[in-house]
Amino acid sequence: MRAVVFDRPGGPRHLHLSDIAIPTIKPDEVLIEVAAAGLNRADIHQREGHYPPPPGASEVLGLEVSGHIAGAGAEVSSWKQGDRVCALLAGGGYAEYCAVPATQCLPVPASLPLVEAAGLPEAAFTVWANLFHQPLVYPSESLLVQGGTSGIGTFAIQAAHALGVRVAATAGNPDKLALCRKLGAEQAFSYKGEWFNQAQSWQADRGIDVILDMIGGDYFPRHIDLLAPRGRLTHIAYANGANVTLDLKKVMQKRLIVTGSTLRSRPPAEKAELRNALEVRLWPKVQDGSIRPVIDRTFPVEQAAEAHQYFEAGSHAGKILLTL
Ligand SMILES: NC(=O)c1ccc[n+]([C@@H]2O[C@H](COP(=O)([O-])OP(=O)(O)OC[C@H]3O[C@@H](n4cnc5c(N)ncnc54)[C@H](OP(=O)(O)O)[C@@H]3O)[C@@H](O)[C@H]2O)c1
Repeated sequence: MRAVVFDRPGGPRHLHLSDIAIPTIKPDEVLIEVAAAGLNRADIHQREGHYPPPPGASEVLGLEVSGHIAGAGAEVSSWKQGDRVCALLAGGGYAEYCAVPATQCLPVPASLPLVEAAGLPEAAFTVWANLFHQPLVYPSESLLVQGGTSGIGTFAIQAAHALGVRVAATAGNPDKLALCRKLGAEQAFSYKGEWFNQAQSWQADRGIDVILDMIGGDYFPRHIDLLAPRGRLTHIAYANGANVTLDLKKVMQKRLIVTGSTLRSRPPAEKAELRNALEVRLWPKVQDGSIRPVIDRTFPVEQAAEAHQYFEAGSHAGKILLTL
């Protein structure tokens, strides 16, 4: 089968197509004939050699796909050949076929084009795990989403809005700010401007209940200041740095919760738990169209290098996909 590989870590130009073996499936896995794979920041880090796949995972890039079930292991009864699915992977998505535990697949509703569904799994699992699984935010509370037009941000705004949470988000240009509002944010702040003062004014009475952050660094003390009493701050990345200064006095006075998580290295049983909750709680909203993947652009798999270059340029809003 065709797959995107790289012979040594480096820039996007190291990516090229190669012919490799179709993966063999374990008894609890399915084989997916891939229609499209979503790009993620983690793919860039892996290509550069900074983020190796967890033990046992495919060396091929790609953490999420959509496609048809092409085969199922002996223990799998939940899927049959031809089913339309999207799936969260620990690796191996940039290829014509991938193997994944059956418990990491979700159905693609008839209302959603199969290719577009490749933009759902990584964001859906991440947002669910960090905001709703052990609930961190509740209906009618306020939520600030940093990076509102990232793949994660576009899903977080829609999911929170659909579940009755009041959302604001940050983004880097007027078109992206408009997209945040279109997706359900009641306010959108430019992170190149006065976002901190604007966020403070948004919830001037008591502060913001929850912040979903991917920036860290110098944003951390400002987030601590923005939070309401019993506020919660959750981290999924730290673009501005992982080491921060924390004023414990403020944490104690406001009784704050500071947390965060990663997804890729979690054991399959935890991913299955997230998947089952997602199917019940959020998938009906994917089915009725109130949550949709926001697709910026698709590239044919032959142009994986161009797709990575485009991702790294940072002008996109929502997901970039490779079609197989
Ligand atoms: N922990 C986990 O489980 C997990 C899982 C998946 C992803 N992630 C992380 O989540 C993040 C989002 O990933 P992605 O692939 O969806 O998209 P991405 O391209 O990494 O998104 C980056 C986002 O950061 C925003 N941004 C950049 N500088 C900023 C600043 N100074 N202040 C506020 N926002 C700023 C960008 O906004 P503009 O485009 O407007 O410039 C963009 O929305 C990544 O860091 C990724 O590694 C974590």
